[in-house]
Amino acid sequence: MTDAMNLHSFPPQDGSDAVASPQRGALVSQHEAIGHVIEIGGSGAAVEIAERRLIELAADPDPSIAMSGQVGSQIKIASGRRWLLANVRRLKVTDVEAGHITAEIDFLGEGDEDRQTGRLVNFKRGITSYPIPGSKVFPVSGEDLKQMFAADERAHIEIGTVYPTKDVRAALYVDSLLGKHFALLGSTGTGKSTAAALIMHRICDLSPEGHIVMVDPHGEYSAAFKGHGELFNVDNLAMPYWLMNFEEHTEVFVTSQGAERQRDMDILAKCLLQARGKNRAADGLSKLTVDSPIPYTLSDLTNAITHEMGLLNKATDTAPYMRLKTKIDELKSDPRYQFMFSGMLVADSMGAFIAKIFRLPAKGKPISIIDVSGVPSDIVSVVVAVLSRLVFDYAIWSRSEAQRPVLLVCEEAHRYIPSDKTSSGQAVRKILERIAKEGRKYGVSMGLITQRPSDLAEGVLSQCGTILAMRLNNDRDQAFVKSAMPEGSRGFLDVIPALRNRECIVCGEGVSIPIRVSFDDLERDRCPASSDPMFSLLWRQTGEEEAMVARVVKRWRAQGR
Ligand SMILES: Nc1ncnc2c1ncn2[C@@H]1O[C@H](COP(=O)(O)OP(=O)(O)OP(=O)(O)O)[C@@H](O)[C@H]1O
Ligand SMILES: [Mg+2]
Repeated sequence: MTDAMNLHSFPPQDGSDAVASPQRGALVSQHEAIGHVIEIGGSGAAVEIAERRLIELAADPDPSIAMSGQVGSQIKIASGRRWLLANVRRLKVTDVEAGHITAEIDFLGEGDEDRQTGRLVNFKRGITSYPIPGSKVFPVSGEDLKQMFAADERAHIEIGTVYPTKDVRAALYVDSLLGKHFALLGSTGTGKSTAAALIMHRICDLSPEGHIVMVDPHGEYSAAFKGHGELFNVDNLAMPYWLMNFEEHTEVFVTSQGAERQRDMDILAKCLLQARGKNRAADGLSKLTVDSPIPYTLSDLTNAITHEMGLLNKATDTAPYMRLKTKIDELKSDPRYQFMFSGMLVADSMGAFIAKIFRLPAKGKPISIIDVSGVPSDIVSVVVAVLSRLVFDYAIWSRSEAQRPVLLVCEEAHRYIPSDKTSSGQAVRKILERIAKEGRKYGVSMGLITQRPSDLAEGVLSQCGTILAMRLNNDRDQAFVKSAMPEGSRGFLDVIPALRNRECIVCGEGVSIPIRVSFDDLERDRCPASSDPMFSLLWRQTGEEEAMVARVVKRWRAQGR
């Protein structure tokens, strides 16, 4: 709570540790009060808690009761005939002698009490009236939490349990989660990739005819989705070079800088248009542009360059032409680039490529994992740009058709949408920023996974409706995430640096109220291949090193798996 909230102090109405009186119409709690409300502000309030009660509660067998009153936990406040639920953001000692602690709280929602059982029922997010200062504050039980976090009838997936309970299930609402993009953040080793695999698996189980494209820069996810999804890597991706638009072409073919670059680009544009025009698919098109995804052969392109070079008056101006030709020939002959520039890829395979990547139809395998770990580093960003742009362009050009929304998941998103605008790979940055801003309107959802949220381009994180934040060790990252999170979840934010591995805070559209979740254990065969090596164990094993090294060298030289 900020000082600007115009707070008022009120004395307690009566003793703060009395049991709520069981008069007609009043609320009954199985537990004694732990304190009372002393100040009320716009979105939060301050309560005074008796330290003695916190110590007493700590021994309770119900972990939710035992935690109640601590930072990040929930408490409930009796307000007329309703319970107000709130989250504890900060604790401060006000009177050491008397053992008085002041807690700043944020309201989460309100609910009724079932007359028969005394349980919390009808929990709703947001509150309709504030408590009266002096109102009593009670601990929240596991049963109460179950009610608070019970998923309603909307489509949802369960991802784990609500902290600190072991049995209250934490759910994400799929339509709200995907409708407005989501981000999964956390320092290295906190369990992001495993959490991402878990969420994707649950979504796939719920939607066997879905359409998910996952860009996997480290080749971790193939192991997780064997049998559940289509796996692509440089050996079977076969992504034709002619799908690139002009900007992507320049990132691959144009090597010069400064003034020369513009000249090279002009020549490439002219020749590319000629080459594209030679294809039968271009016949009858009234508007053929350098961006049109029309197949062309690389030799048509180099021939056009040679032809243009022949039209020059002076032989001294040939340098840009030669540069382009050399680069194209280099890509054509380098085996590492075959997945994209092979001569076999000239056939018009656009429909088939889109169908296989976007899972149209999904045939029970709704996710395609695109392992780009084998792609030469200088064109990874272009490959990701082409894939992302295809997702977006498909959505735009299929508007008159039955809608097939696509989810694009990007691991290590800070690499592709960096805050630093000068680096190479502007094409991928542009398209991902565009999807972040406009994707929702066309049924394109984006899932960003990153360990460095502060390195993400500005504004991208705030386009994400749901944020799943795992532990973040770095101050800058924490501050960045805080500024992107909705106000009501600030209480939770303060615990981000203290989260354990596999725990996260979820806030935003995908959940009805912010929650702290311990992710479920994911089965071994569904986990990404990212497990930390067990040095102590592996360094005790030996045998067959010679053959092993020989095999590695062979693969290395052949540039194949
Ligand atoms: N929910 C889970 N179920 C089972 N194992 C898990 C779970 N979460 C994390 N792990 C284990 O923790 C380790 C680290 O997890 P993971 O690779 O997902 O972290 P990460 O945040 O993606 O790390 P990096 O930033 O290095 O990619 C792995 O060995 C993984 O098996
Ligand atoms: Mg990872």
